[in-house]
Amino acid sequence: MHKPILIIGACGQIGTELTFELRNKYGAENVIASDIREGSNALMQSGPFELLDATNYAAIEDVVMHYEIDEVYLMAAMLSATAEKFPMRAWNLNMNSLFNVLNLAKEKKISKVFWPSSIAVFGPNTPKKDTPQSTVMEPSTVYGISKQSGERWCEYYHKKYGVDIRSVRYPGLISWKTMPGGGTTDYAVEIYHEALDKGTYECFLNGDTKLPMMYMDDAIRATISLMDSPSEKIKVRSSYNLGGMSFTPKDMAKSIEKHIPGFKVSYAPDFRQEIANSWPSSIDDSAAREQWGWEPRFDLDQTTDEMLKNLKE
Ligand SMILES: NC(=O)c1ccc[n+]([C@@H]2O[C@H](COP(=O)([O-])OP(=O)(O)OC[C@H]3O[C@@H](n4cnc5c(N)ncnc54)[C@H](O)[C@@H]3O)[C@@H](O)[C@H]2O)c1
Repeated sequence: MHKPILIIGACGQIGTELTFELRNKYGAENVIASDIREGSNALMQSGPFELLDATNYAAIEDVVMHYEIDEVYLMAAMLSATAEKFPMRAWNLNMNSLFNVLNLAKEKKISKVFWPSSIAVFGPNTPKKDTPQSTVMEPSTVYGISKQSGERWCEYYHKKYGVDIRSVRYPGLISWKTMPGGGTTDYAVEIYHEALDKGTYECFLNGDTKLPMMYMDDAIRATISLMDSPSEKIKVRSSYNLGGMSFTPKDMAKSIEKHIPGFKVSYAPDFRQEIANSWPSSIDDSAAREQWGWEPRFDLDQTTDEMLKNLKE
């Protein structure tokens, strides 16, 4: 039987689906969901839940001891667009929550940690196309700075204290179960909702902004597959590049139009355009493919099929 797992930030866009999938795999009672707020009814009814603040070390330690937790997935964070509005709050949340979990692992109270990084670790001086695993980074956003610092600390805790930390740099994630939480790629979810509700959408990025993206099922599969891999295969202890697909808002509009003829998108770029401009357009994820067998399954048209089908239901 798998030892108990704690998910911190379980009610968000990724945490919700990760919780369902881990509960399917390891049993509901073995997967403790936690967050500072309650989640969807479906999530709350699917298994044990604790109200927990990721910045409170003692509170996390209590939950870890109580449930004899062995692995922690830390999904709580302030995302890119919101972090630009509240820089210090973002820094405090993103860094303190990570230190809390890394220190629990250093103290041997848990044995494995998953913490997500992001394509936001890259900056305007990074090669944009097929961005390599190791390259110039220089992130220019509060969120990106916190993720890059987090990666450095993860690698440090692994080397110095033997912490079994595993991480991927998620691209923009597309899903239908939970709305996104204040990122720069949120348009790629909102667009499906508005296509069905109104037949029109005003996009906050310009139509030619090409960004790396991924359908949620692929992201969850990558996460669990990385966590299931034997430790010796995981050579990168900062964070792995993870590729899915790359497209622009115009490409997405075309893909939706195949299902909703006459769907119209207008473009009114706001402050998020500058963030998007600093990020890669595509990702070289050969390290993840070679070391632990990563392979994406969903392209843009398959994502559109899934999104529209599920949102209609
Ligand atoms: N969604 C994406 O496209 C994307 C892309 C790259 C990286 N990521 C990373 O993946 C992780 C999860 O992202 P998400 O999209 O699910 O975010 P989200 O904003 O949807 O969810 C974050 C959750 O954390 C919770 N939270 C906030 N402060 C907390 C605190 N102090 N204690 C406990 N919980 C707290 C929130 O209530 C929320 O439910 C984050 O680290 C994020 O940076 C996400």
